[in-house]
Amino acid sequence: MSTAPALAHTREELATLLAKHDDPVGFVPTMGALHEGHASLMRVARERIGDDGPLVVSVFVNPLQFGPGEDLDRYPRTLDADVEVCAREGVDIVFAPGVDEVYPGGEPQVTVDPGPLADVLEGRIRPGHFRGVLTVVAKLFGLVRPDVAVFGEKDYQQLALIRRMVLDLNMGVEVVGAETVREADGLALSSRNRYLDPEQREQAVALSRMLRAAQDAAAYGASSALAAARAELRAAQGVDLDYLVVADPGLGELPDDVPAGTEARVLVAARVGPTRLIDNMPLVLGRGKDS
Ligand code: PAJ
Repeated sequence: MSTAPALAHTREELATLLAKHDDPVGFVPTMGALHEGHASLMRVARERIGDDGPLVVSVFVNPLQFGPGEDLDRYPRTLDADVEVCAREGVDIVFAPGVDEVYPGGEPQVTVDPGPLADVLEGRIRPGHFRGVLTVVAKLFGLVRPDVAVFGEKDYQQLALIRRMVLDLNMGVEVVGAETVREADGLALSSRNRYLDPEQREQAVALSRMLRAAQDAAAYGASSALAAARAELRAAQGVDLDYLVVADPGLGELPDDVPAGTEARVLVAARVGPTRLIDNMPLVLGRGKDS
């Protein structure tokens, strides 16, 4: 049996609901169109805070993190179904504010500067994106005041930047990263997968295939991992690559020579039809970078 979560549309309603609890607060920020990946974050959060603490999920499509020409207007909005997912996962409070509630002064004058980690990968292709993400996450942290907040490794650079913001701005929130949930064929779950037509859906599996190939070849070094991923890409159809990189787990550049057993991350972004997809996986490198 699942109980419906309390639904708050305003900051005031949220504050009233939160005031009824004094246990540790768990928080999962989302943009809605919830799927099993989001649900898994809710389970991780619940495990961290225990049975009594309030688990809060926010559903807010944040205009500040969408660039011109991106999918802000057509981003799926499915609040009723989202509340059902939250009910199944034992969420206590769903915070689904309107834009005016989150940005009462209109476009904010004070925003979070994400620093150099936002100059690479997604940040390079989507200028301003991480400023928008960090600004809204900081605002949501201010409203929800969580003890623990859970984010997916699926958005690896986002997770790294949120950790860095919490560290650099002394936010006092425990940030927990959760593993990527995938379809049976390997495609990472994403709210944007629903844009894919059946042919594109088939083609999209190339991203996870590339990453798995990189993992399998990682024992021979980072260059071999990249070469194996590129070979998968060549075998694929309809995949327009934005980037494919192997970086250190903090997203810095890997030194030329790394000892066997060095952990790294392989990250990919590509367009399949008009839909932009991202994915990443951990690597354990053998021998040197260029061996
Ligand atoms: P959204 O894309 O809705 O994702 C919400 C959270 O779910 C993020 O932490 C994301 O990494 C995680 N997630 C998405 N797909 C996942 C999957 N397949 N497995 C595990 N976790 C997954 O990310 C955002 O929203 C926004 O940028 C937000 C942080 C809410 C700020 O607006």
